Amino acid sequence: EVMAQELSAPSYWKNERGSELFIWSANNGAIQGTFTNHAQGFACQGIPYPASGAIGPTGLYFVVTFAQCNSFTRWVGKTNGSQMPASWMLFYVDKNGKPSKLKGADIFTRVW
Ligand code: BTN
Repeated sequence: EVMAQELSAPSYWKNERGSELFIWSANNGAIQGTFTNHAQGFACQGIPYPASGAIGPTGLYFVVTFAQCNSFTRWVGKTNGSQMPASWMLFYVDKNGKPSKLKGADIFTRVW
């Protein structure tokens, strides 16, 4: 079976904000791992949260719920050798209680 997107597991990735993604399985297209946020300007730092998602022929996505922050982020990207550029959307509740979104992009680099 050809899997155009390869994501070997276990693998360990770091993004340009210093956040860490550890993928412990990528079986049958399903991704399971942990994500630890270290990005400046964001809350819920230094805590490993479960990450889950899927990988297919054209790309991958994964979602992390930051339980203590009442927020979650979805990344959608593509592996390209040891790089994984991914755009993200952070869903959170603002200080007035309004559900809100923030978007951005990260580049993950494979460390091992
Ligand atoms: C929050 O502040 O509500 C939880 C932490 C969010 C961290 C975001 S997820 C997208 C971006 N990339 C990172 O590595 N960290 C921030």
